[in-house]
Amino acid sequence: MEGNFQLKVKDEIDYEKIIREMTLEEKFHYLTGAGSNCGYTLDRFPVKTMRYHDGPFGLRLRLTSDQKKSEAERKIRSAFPNCQKGEEAVTTAFPTGCALGATWDETVLEQVGEAIGEEFHSHGIHAVLGPAVNIKRHPLCGRNFEYYSEDPHVSGMLGAAYVKGVQKKGVAACPKHYALNNQERGRFSVNSEVDERTMREIYLKPFEMIVKEARPWSMMCAYNRINGVYASEHRELLEEILRKEWGFDGIVISDWGAVKNRAYSLLASVDLCMPYQEQAFAQLKEAYEKNLIDTELVDETIRRLFHFYERTRSVYEPEECDLEKHHQIAVNAARKSITLLKNENGALPVRKEEVKRILVVGESAADPLIGGDGSSRVSNPPYRTTPLEELKRFYGEEVEIEFLGHSFLHTYEHEIGYMEMELAQKAATADAVLIFANQDYSCTSEAIDRNHIELEPYLEHAIRVSRRVSRRVIVVLNIGSAVSTAKWNHCADAILVSWLGGQGMGTAVAETICGINNPGGKLPETFPKDLRDVESLKNYPGDGYKVVYKERLQVGYRHFDANRVKPEYEFGFGLSYSRFVFGNLEQRGDELSFDIANLSDVDGEEVAQVYISFPENSWNDHPVKELRYFKRVAVKAHETVSVHVKMTEELFQYYNAALHKWMVECGAYTIWVGNSSRNLPLRTTKSVTFGYEEGITYETSME
Ligand code: BGC
Repeated sequence: MEGNFQLKVKDEIDYEKIIREMTLEEKFHYLTGAGSNCGYTLDRFPVKTMRYHDGPFGLRLRLTSDQKKSEAERKIRSAFPNCQKGEEAVTTAFPTGCALGATWDETVLEQVGEAIGEEFHSHGIHAVLGPAVNIKRHPLCGRNFEYYSEDPHVSGMLGAAYVKGVQKKGVAACPKHYALNNQERGRFSVNSEVDERTMREIYLKPFEMIVKEARPWSMMCAYNRINGVYASEHRELLEEILRKEWGFDGIVISDWGAVKNRAYSLLASVDLCMPYQEQAFAQLKEAYEKNLIDTELVDETIRRLFHFYERTRSVYEPEECDLEKHHQIAVNAARKSITLLKNENGALPVRKEEVKRILVVGESAADPLIGGDGSSRVSNPPYRTTPLEELKRFYGEEVEIEFLGHSFLHTYEHEIGYMEMELAQKAATADAVLIFANQDYSCTSEAIDRNHIELEPYLEHAIRVSRRVSRRVIVVLNIGSAVSTAKWNHCADAILVSWLGGQGMGTAVAETICGINNPGGKLPETFPKDLRDVESLKNYPGDGYKVVYKERLQVGYRHFDANRVKPEYEFGFGLSYSRFVFGNLEQRGDELSFDIANLSDVDGEEVAQVYISFPENSWNDHPVKELRYFKRVAVKAHETVSVHVKMTEELFQYYNAALHKWMVECGAYTIWVGNSSRNLPLRTTKSVTFGYEEGITYETSME
């Protein structure tokens, strides 16, 4: 139910007058949602109902029967005959967070954000419930597919770009889930126990970067507790840090059902409790009667909600958006996300002129997972390209493509001897065997953590059988987070990760296999050899009530470095069909510069990564090294590109928990440059003195 006013966006609204005229009851109602995705309707006033929808990778919207019959929807459905006829609006399914994270490309994130913003705008929706920027603390977390990275800098940079894109279109982004929501076990109440420095440097950092860089108009607080206090009642996190320290001037929206008591959450500065909660009104009334909350607090909150309304009300003048153009953006993002982990014996690309017959094995070639399950699932995309169809299209008639899918492999499990023979026969006569391996929804879903990081045994077996008879075995991993390749890695000549790459993933994968697309994605998370190699495993999932972040800063590559554990594929790793060489590292004043040369015949893209190590004689404990800068750069065949990095304070900061602030320790820092966390061929030392603060004697200058 919308308000009855035919409001034109240009009309000025006197919000202060509305606040003066609203009754206390109306105000209490306005502080809580009225349905699952909309706010309370103020019928008497010229402000309409606000709408908040998932999700981070595309609009999830159930249409009313009137909307379904609308002219706009009819036009879309006739233009895209392959979309479902059901209740869901036809919207683009963009690559999920794991794939977007692997692009390491802010431009891509901004483009995706912008396209999503356009789709929300065209449906008159005020906020996108995303991006999801929690840190991938543990490989088993079921929502890792939604998150960008194990590293705060990557998460923060990409999240900020996405937010800028969305908000350019007059729609609010809503970064989530603030904060320390890093597992699905006990997700509604688990207490994440963490020390101050770890919280600031690892878990709050992406949110801080996004707030400061992109100014999101809303933020979602999480379900869990942090050091004993629910995120929705955490005044220190919401009021002191988010608003006062970082300067956030948007609204805080609760995760769906995260508010336990509306009055306590109001006191902690949660502006909107979502969705509708019957008890919320009574809780506010009781707190008001007991003088726990007052009119001033209520009005201040309403004022912020109106400010949000003002910022987003151009959505009432929806413009049509171009789903065809958005498909191209989705395909492009999927291309950029493809991550090549292994490529021996020239296995990839498989050029058309080199082959006559290709064997394609595995259901995900024909029915790929383009997203994960839960609130982020986009279920009615206009297209859904599959690797199998696209391979057939690219190779054309001259190359025979045989496909062994679900029924073959499943019989295989039961009649192993017979099917093994058949697979071996078919693989032996093919010029290349492409094995498409995925993990199912139980491994990529909100609300469920995984319990292993292996592929299904039948897929591993298919890889081994193919190895015995074929000289070209290529594995394509259609996964939402790290898997172990240890048991079958030696059987594959090439391994590609296509992630959960949205509706254009099939095209991106096929283009990469044929050599039309040169892969440039990098792992935004470490791929361990074995789950037992992960430090936080000992401190996960906790006892059901609390989970102690005992590993402190040693998350992801920081742990693998500190404890000298060799991962299967390290953070930041990804190969290319080009050959890049880094050189000429120089410091000039506050600028660092280096070159990337492409020594091959193929144009390509490389991700320059800059890590720092703290001074050796530091008084503090620090990770061995930390990523502080990255940039994805295009380098044409036989050309060289220079990268320039401004060395600002942020490059050298750490959080001092005794002084409760970010500081720069003086001393000699090592700066590493390269293309993965373990391939850093360039190195220099930077003597830092600008962090010295008078009156603080324990941060002594090295000079
Ligand atoms: C999820 C959020 C989502 C919300 C609304 C919650 O269960 O944690 O990420 O935005 O539901 O669907």
